[in-house]
Amino acid sequence: MAEKVSMATGTQGKKSNADDGGPVSRGSESSLGGGGGTGSGGKDLKWLVLGAAGQLGREWVLALEKDGVDVAGLSRRDLDITQADEVQQAVTQIAPDIIINCAAYTKVDQAEIETGQAEAVNTLAPEIIARAAAATGALMVQYSTDYVFPGLPEHRRELPDGYPESYPPDPVNAYGRTKWLGEQQIRAQNGPHLIVRVSWLCGRYGNNFIGTMLRLAAERDRLKVVNDQFGCPTFAGPAVFNTRVLVEKGVRGTVHLSSGGVTSWYDFAREIFRLRGVDVALEPIPTSGYPTLARRPAWSRLDIRQLAGVPGTRILPWQDELECFLSDLP
Ligand SMILES: NC(=O)c1ccc[n+]([C@@H]2O[C@H](COP(=O)([O-])OP(=O)(O)OC[C@H]3O[C@@H](n4cnc5c(N)ncnc54)[C@H](OP(=O)(O)O)[C@@H]3O)[C@@H](O)[C@H]2O)c1
Repeated sequence: MAEKVSMATGTQGKKSNADDGGPVSRGSESSLGGGGGTGSGGKDLKWLVLGAAGQLGREWVLALEKDGVDVAGLSRRDLDITQADEVQQAVTQIAPDIIINCAAYTKVDQAEIETGQAEAVNTLAPEIIARAAAATGALMVQYSTDYVFPGLPEHRRELPDGYPESYPPDPVNAYGRTKWLGEQQIRAQNGPHLIVRVSWLCGRYGNNFIGTMLRLAAERDRLKVVNDQFGCPTFAGPAVFNTRVLVEKGVRGTVHLSSGGVTSWYDFAREIFRLRGVDVALEPIPTSGYPTLARRPAWSRLDIRQLAGVPGTRILPWQDELECFLSDLP
């Protein structure tokens, strides 16, 4: 079971311990800080972003650099996070106060075949990073996924607000299993950590549903999109902003993060095309009409009320965040 969120009751610096698992408490803000309007900006701290070439990693590095924060961004070419010695060496050399791990094996269908590779990146590497972070007292921030949950159709009725952080994970595919095991490895290291579960991530860089829909609509007159899987998009920019607020406020443990509201992939696609003025015939289909290697959860909504309760976080309905996101696209 995931631990409850806790908020630091004092200033958490580099050598502090996490207070995971405790009841929610609200104290003074942490010195580990975000910027971009979230507070002091953490400019006196050193940040290390892993997976810096991915869609979330790039957003992180750009946001921190824009605020003049001391950040080292390492892509897979710079550091293979599955190599314990190299990770240890990088953490020792860079001596970060905060490590943001955005690196992951994210090919959900391929993970059914390359399960060993997915495990190495999503389970083993988080353990390696968490151990290195715990040894130096650095805060480790890890991203995880809605796919840790079973996503049963009946959960749409039973959990209309989505899965809370405390709901027992039970992934239905290899990707979800490797991410869930990775979470557990981090908790087992007992260092300061924040695990942020996001769903349906869309960023300006890299592959995501929005890019795929726009590309397919340019190639075809007619598209079929699944209408019986429900969840909520998370946009990379707001995800970085809200994670920085969590870090700054001293929130540790596990927190769910997405935009507000809920949708199906079909309605998400419809809104993308409406906002972009794309004329394409869109047909709703059931999951059975789009067979994939990996099973997908039917109900993927994350309950984000804990996030909403943290002062300074900004959560907009997914439609508003989508509009904002699309207006930034070329
Ligand atoms: N995308 C989603 O819809 C989604 C949904 C829920 C949660 N998440 C989680 O959100 C986080 C960010 O996802 P994302 O969409 O930004 O992922 P992404 O775009 O696929 O980026 C992941 C990055 O990790 C790198 N990487 C893979 N193996 C590595 C290794 N051994 N060493 C170092 N780097 C390695 C990849 O490099 P290469 O490209 O060279 O392989 C890639 O640049 C992940 O934890 C993911 O599990 C994503």
